[in-house]
Amino acid sequence: MKDLEISALGLSFRNPIIAASTDIARSVEQFEAFAKSGAGAIITKSVTDAAALQDDNISRIHVTDMAQNPARGEVPESYILFSRGGSMLGMEAFEPKAVEMLRIAKQYNTVAIASIAAGPVENWVRFAKRLEDLGFPALELNFGNPHGEASASKLGFLIGQSPELSAEILKAVQGAVKIPVIVKMTPQLSDVTGTAQHLEACGAKAVTVMHRFQGLMVDPETDAPILGGWAAIGGSWMKPVALANIARIYRGTNLTVFGGNGANTARDVYEYMCCGASLVEIGSAFMLRGPAYAKRVVEEFYGLLEKKGVRRCEEIVGKTASQIVAYQNLSALPKRKAVYDLQKCKDCAGKPCVETCYFGALHVKDGILSRDETKCSGCSLCQTRCGKDAIAMQILREDGIS
Ligand SMILES: Cc1cc2nc3c(=O)[nH]c(=O)nc-3n(C[C@H](O)[C@H](O)[C@H](O)COP(=O)(O)O)c2cc1C
Repeated sequence: MKDLEISALGLSFRNPIIAASTDIARSVEQFEAFAKSGAGAIITKSVTDAAALQDDNISRIHVTDMAQNPARGEVPESYILFSRGGSMLGMEAFEPKAVEMLRIAKQYNTVAIASIAAGPVENWVRFAKRLEDLGFPALELNFGNPHGEASASKLGFLIGQSPELSAEILKAVQGAVKIPVIVKMTPQLSDVTGTAQHLEACGAKAVTVMHRFQGLMVDPETDAPILGGWAAIGGSWMKPVALANIARIYRGTNLTVFGGNGANTARDVYEYMCCGASLVEIGSAFMLRGPAYAKRVVEEFYGLLEKKGVRRCEEIVGKTASQIVAYQNLSALPKRKAVYDLQKCKDCAGKPCVETCYFGALHVKDGILSRDETKCSGCSLCQTRCGKDAIAMQILREDGIS
């Protein structure tokens, strides 16, 4: 395998693929299985001081396909994962596991990062110091957990949504430990870039973009809320939302971005990096498909970079983000129009393209498609509805000739 080492926060990762903080790191055995996969790092399950989040009975995971049919057997390629992820660990329960995990991480050349999801500031500081003493080389501060209402103290996304609280905790933790700190952001923000800029102004060097949203699902049989109520929602379909947030923060700050939420495949890892992530966290996909799958993603990522002729991971970081055209400049994009192959089109009786041309450019005359070119906006909805492969989009030159 090629050497895809990447440096971030003064640490060296053998590759940019990280097993996100999930239940895969609850037990030492599972941690070891994932350490063997070749991933660059593993983030441990968050340690918490919130009694409600340590209750073993709260763990619920409901996985469906995109039509919301419960998944059975093979994990659907695209899925919805609705969950209150396994209860978190208290520090006392975590410590003996942590020692073993750090030993295993060293043995398999992966970086073990510890995660904290505490309430009161003094507990954040206490946990951070203890985790540093145990030997963790970095910490992830969970300011994104969507179950943040589970305790009397604000947790997770309620911290991430509060500029004052997140600043207070971040400064206190960074003042108490020497190891690097990554802030895991909630996506439930009105201004993602502004929040990241605020964290940067408070001394943050790195952010994880992003934790999951809170969602609600309804049981089609009983009309009751699935899992009893609010829970975290995500899945492969979150990728475009995560990519947008990653790219915004990459463009709007100098923070090191750990990308995540919705990444499932080697190709996804590549795209998260092109949008500005230096490293990419994968949670649900590794949990659902297991350590052999994690190994496959790592191997396929090496293969993908080889195929693309990429020699160093840094080469692709932000490659797509830097090409994004701002909304204000959209009209400067090249114009385009739809062109039609009337031979292929004549075999289609229904012509659904016509009823979905909301610009009024398409009509049917004597069973034949006719078009008012002046009305075609180039939106391509007609192409989407064409079942005969009879429509192509053509870029127009500035003089209007294609
Ligand atoms: C079952 C489950 C448990 C999780 N537990 C934690 C946790 O303890 N701490 C944390 O920061 N994130 C936790 N997460 C969130 C993941 O780390 C990750 O940010 C999120 O699932 C989005 O990435 P994904 O689409 O790759 O799953 C959990 C996610 C799942 C699905």
